[in-house]
Amino acid sequence: MNLRTRSQALQERAEHYFPGGVNSPVRAFRAVGGAPPFIDRAEGAYLYDADGNRYIDYFGSWGPMILGHAFPPVVEAIERAARKSASFGASTAAEADLAERIVACYPAIEKMRFVSSGTEATMSAIRLARAATGRKIIIKFEGCYHGHADGLLVKAGSGVATFGIPGSAGVPEEIAHLTLALPYNEMSAVETAFETYPGAIAAIIIEPIVGNAGCIPPAEGYLAALRKLTERHGALLIVDEVMTGFRVALGGACQLYGLKSDLAPDLITLGKIVGGGLPVGVFGGKRRFMDLLAPLGPVYQAGTLSGNPLAMAAGLATIGYLQEHTSEVYARLEAASHAVAAGVAQEAASAKVAVTTNRVGAMWTWFFTGEPVTNYEQAAKSNTAAFGRFHRGMLDQGVWLPPSQFEAAFISTAHSDADLEATIAAAREVFASFAG
Ligand SMILES: Cc1ncc(COP(=O)(O)O)c(C=O)c1O
Repeated sequence: MNLRTRSQALQERAEHYFPGGVNSPVRAFRAVGGAPPFIDRAEGAYLYDADGNRYIDYFGSWGPMILGHAFPPVVEAIERAARKSASFGASTAAEADLAERIVACYPAIEKMRFVSSGTEATMSAIRLARAATGRKIIIKFEGCYHGHADGLLVKAGSGVATFGIPGSAGVPEEIAHLTLALPYNEMSAVETAFETYPGAIAAIIIEPIVGNAGCIPPAEGYLAALRKLTERHGALLIVDEVMTGFRVALGGACQLYGLKSDLAPDLITLGKIVGGGLPVGVFGGKRRFMDLLAPLGPVYQAGTLSGNPLAMAAGLATIGYLQEHTSEVYARLEAASHAVAAGVAQEAASAKVAVTTNRVGAMWTWFFTGEPVTNYEQAAKSNTAAFGRFHRGMLDQGVWLPPSQFEAAFISTAHSDADLEATIAAAREVFASFAG
């Protein structure tokens, strides 16, 4: 491993222009310590930094790169689209082409709208839910992240069914008070909220598999129970599949947990993979709600670059490939994820380092705790100092993990068996140093 001197110089220069030297906070590596390498290029399963070091990539640009970096069909599609101009601000056939593919994977999406980020998708879905119900309160779950819109940057209040408190400076209390942040995987908390605020809850928004507190799967029957409860109370269910969409299955968590027909969510949000690495978000669902959007209805929502032709091209190439190779892609992702997640966990166990592994398909987290993790409170008990040490050690061994205990690791179809074995061997080395 070369010294990261060039990365260090680039970080110093970046700090001159950007707060913390970054354009998204987690990139600064504050949660794990150490200086973040600057990326020069990436190909397949590998990232190459500015000092010429190679890393096996387990965060995949936070999810989108399911087919690996610079996947030739995606690169070619972007090139072809760019030659016709990067943006028109008018409709193109590619938008409906991609929509058609999305609907084939997500039958619960009857109509949709493209936006440019996951944040925009969830923010717009909530506006729609409030308009559809004429209600104001939103339920979210502790540890779930849905982007950085004011009403979603909210922490739990002091008790179940107590209004949230701002999770960031600059979020007005009045807005935070319209959000209830409840414990994930606990139906009674949601039931209490509906009893406490009858006729006032517009929607529940949920990460069907939590990724943003580390990977936490839903308890059996939990999502279906939320669907039935929201329906009974006339509230909408918004399933945020920005991370899980096309990752855990072609039809995401909705497919995995049977959220279809009677159990279909009202609205679904997508992002990441759906843009093949370019900026895209989607919100969509039942026609009767989506038709409330301008220009048909009274809910305003718009975007200069929405449905951008380069993003549509990258999305079409990515989703098209996933559709055409579904069984082989998801079988490989499952086998590879299992091998590396279990292999590293085994190394931790051999070194007597307490680690709990949560995994759903191609997303997982090694929590540095000996206890099971089924909600945010339990995740928060993890030994973050030990995780930081593990992260820095793995980086020095040429393995790039997501730089926080509270993030999910991802894999791509480009990861070879040799990459997985090298990762497990690297973990063995790092855990051995824990003893000292
Ligand atoms: C579940 C979920 N929703 C929404 C978002 C926000 O998406 P974006 O970062 O594209 O705004 C994220 C981002 O990580 C996410 O994981």
